[in-house]
This record gives sequence, C-alpha cells and structure tokens, in this order.
Amino acid sequence: MTAPDRYGVMGYPVAHSRSPVIHRLFALQTEQDMQYDLIQVEPGGLDSAVRQFQRAGGKGLNITTPHKGDAALMADELSDRARVAGAVNTLLIKDDELFGDNTDGAGLVQDLTQNEELELQGANILILGAGGATRGILGPLCAEKPTQIIIANRTLPKAEALVMHFSGEVPVKSCRFQNVPRDVEFDLIVNATSASLQGETPPYPKTAVSDKTVCYDLSYGLAPTPFSSWAARHGAARSLMGWGMLVEQAAESFELWRGVRPDTESVLGQLNLSAS
Ligand code: ATR
Repeated sequence: MTAPDRYGVMGYPVAHSRSPVIHRLFALQTEQDMQYDLIQVEPGGLDSAVRQFQRAGGKGLNITTPHKGDAALMADELSDRARVAGAVNTLLIKDDELFGDNTDGAGLVQDLTQNEELELQGANILILGAGGATRGILGPLCAEKPTQIIIANRTLPKAEALVMHFSGEVPVKSCRFQNVPRDVEFDLIVNATSASLQGETPPYPKTAVSDKTVCYDLSYGLAPTPFSSWAARHGAARSLMGWGMLVEQAAESFELWRGVRPDTESVLGQLNLSAS
C-alpha cells in the first residue's frame, strides 16, 4: 500500500485553522488518498519549512498569515492572480518546482456570485482596509466589472498605493473611513481590516449601509464578528461572514492539487452544523 499524498497549511498561529477539516471532507467526497496537516511555522521560517516539506515528498501547501508575501517571493512560478496580489495562499509542489497561486479572491467572488447570488457587475463596492487581504481580492472583484470600488482605510497612503496598482477599466478610489461618500448607494461592503483580531472597532461608516447593502466580513467565527453584528444593527440587507469564501478558496486549491472540483455546498453545510 502506498502512503497518502501529503498536504498541509502553514501559518502562525495556525491551530484555529479549519482547512484540515475542509480538505478532509473534500478528500472523502472525491475519494482522494491524501493527508492534510496543520504546520505551525514562525515568522521568517517559511523558506526552510517549505523546503523540508518538499524534501519529505509533500505535494502541496496552503499558506496563511503571516507568510503569504514570503510564499510569493519563494515560488518559482506564479499564477497571474498571485502575481497581481503579491501574495500566495496555495503552493503546488511539482518535483523541484514550486508553483504559487492565490485562490482567496476567486473564493470570495464564487461565494458572493454563486452561493449568495449577488450580481457584482454594475455594483458599487466599498472595501474597508487596505492590507494584504484587500490586495488578494481586488483583482478578482475588478474582473466582475463593478461600477466602482472604493477602498477606505485608516492609513490613507496605503489605500492610495492600491489604487495606483489596480486602477484599470474599473474605477478604484481611496478615502479615509470618515470620508466615504454619502451619495453612493453601496451594494456591497467588504470588511478586510484585521481590527477585530486586535479586539478593536474602527469607525465603520454607518452612512454607507442601507437595506440594499450586503455586508461581508472576510473574518468568520462561531459567533457573529464585531463587523457582522455592526452591519446587522445598521440595517444591512444581509450580513455575512467569510465561511463561504473559506470553503470556496479551499475548493480552488484542492482542484489545483488534485484535478477534481469538490462540491462545496455540502461541506459548507457540514461546517455550519459543526459551528452551531
Ligand atoms: P491582512 O493581511 O489581514 O490584510 P495587514 O496587511 O496587516 O493584514 O492589513 C490590516 C488592515 O487592517 C489594514 O488596512 C489596517 O489599517 P492600516 O493600514 O491603517 O494599518 C487595518 N486595521 C487593523 N487594525 C485596525 C483598526 N483598529 N482600525 C482600522 N483599521 C485597522
């Protein structure tokens, strides 16, 4: 009997990651003989950890905070979306070569358009935050041809830098939280700040929310996140957490590794059950 193909997720901290559960469910469903482990890697330690995993015959990795930028630097080849994002959340190990991809933005778009049946074409989108998470989702969101994307951030120059990087056919603009335009009806607000991880609540722009607005927190938890509670309190049409994105980005990674697309709906249902 041959040993199962090895995969894993590297991050710091990583103990809370749901990726092993999701990939085990995918593997069961699609009858793939594979193993998927949590691998804690301290900041600065990605290179040697990946090399060690590669030498041991590992086939692929998910990369999470704080290593996504380092993973992009060490990949031998990058997908277009990983190059644009400057971040890698998925490594495919082929012999001596590391192929880096970024499935985060595709996961978000898939969740919004397929699972939540939201029309992004022509939408007014507000993104809160201008860090790595925003960089990962901007390209795929622009590809859906919204009317505009406004990035609001505490530190304006970081939002301005993203505008420079991403402006193309779709207008991408920047502002501070307190300067979010009041005359735009936002169809979608995405919280991509890491504020709640530090137990902080930024001055989320309440004038941006109406009963037409879908609010989406890239974070997720067993209980509502501070942003998703805030959105519900301010009358959002829907207030969603990032469970769907988590499962959809995992499905994209799984397909890259195994060549089979798992069914995400049943896995999302199982996760939500175990979360309630
Ligand atoms: P990630 O990879 O999760 O995006 P990051 O690159 O460190 O992490 O970016 C974190 C984002 O959350 C940034 O936009 C940050 O704002 P600044 O650019 O002003 O630092 C935002 N953020 C974190 N804590 C915040 C807080 N308390 N209030 C407002 N924004 C916050």
